[in-house]
Amino acid sequence: MIKHLRSAADLDAATATLILDTAAEMAALSGREVKKLPALRGRTVVNLFYEDSTRTRISFEAAAKRLSADVINFSAKGSSVSKGESLKDTALTLQAMGADAVVIRHSASGAPHRLAGWVDGSVVNAGDGTHEHPTQALLDAYTMRSRLGRLDGLRVAIVGDVLHSRVARSNVLLLTTLGAQVTVVGPPTLIPLDVAAALSSRTRVSYDLDAVLPDSDVVMMLRVQTERMQDSYFPSAREYSRRYGLDMPRMKKLPEHAIVMHPGPMNRGMEIAPEVADSPRSTIVEQVANGVSVRMAVLYLLLGGK
Ligand code: NCD
Repeated sequence: MIKHLRSAADLDAATATLILDTAAEMAALSGREVKKLPALRGRTVVNLFYEDSTRTRISFEAAAKRLSADVINFSAKGSSVSKGESLKDTALTLQAMGADAVVIRHSASGAPHRLAGWVDGSVVNAGDGTHEHPTQALLDAYTMRSRLGRLDGLRVAIVGDVLHSRVARSNVLLLTTLGAQVTVVGPPTLIPLDVAAALSSRTRVSYDLDAVLPDSDVVMMLRVQTERMQDSYFPSAREYSRRYGLDMPRMKKLPEHAIVMHPGPMNRGMEIAPEVADSPRSTIVEQVANGVSVRMAVLYLLLGGK
């Protein structure tokens, strides 16, 4: 087993599949009245969140607690970070406290890599800047596999603000490792020019959502990340949603079996219409539930739980 999960590229097909299979076993547990396993009793998991988060932070906390680990939640706000303490000094403090795993979310791409050099425990990337978010990709893959039965040969469209999306990057890496065909779709200003070539030969680029939908088994809508935009990347919100938003008429272009995903948080009415988000085809709430099982599997396997 690998020691750290910093990038979806850390996972080969066998390791990724082991995580998904283990997550399925963990999911069986959440149906029980007592949702706890003793697997990580006595181990310490620190959640180090420098960036805002709802789902991911709660999900990692629930996962660690269900495995009986001791959980320490650190958020930059209200800590010595606001006094200017560096990531390195914070890392040394965690090290002194004997953290077995550190889950980190940070606005700087590469922060998890640096952290792994300063602590002895396992490092799990919970989102670094615009770079990667590997556990999100794992929970997305898990959701696709459980809804559609397979990943190999699956046609997945990832739509919207690909440029700023760590979710997109990790998904492209993981899904192509697992045999899926990925098409990234969005306005040219929001798609990195070299995305297909740089990321994988199994990745295609399209600027035309309507053309891609009829040939997709999965459509994953991305949040337009205005907080990371210093320039204007499209004329107006209305224009964006007219071309790249998923509304009811557009959803009808998908094959009957296709599912609609979104990592959250959503801009309802911008990249996704409320009726689409709340439709039976949407797996958005399921993704959140699956996130806990997948993160349990990741912590369990990285920490060699029994
Ligand atoms: C994503 C993130 O923070 O990278 N959300 C999440 O983890 N559920 C996507 C986003 O912020 O748009």
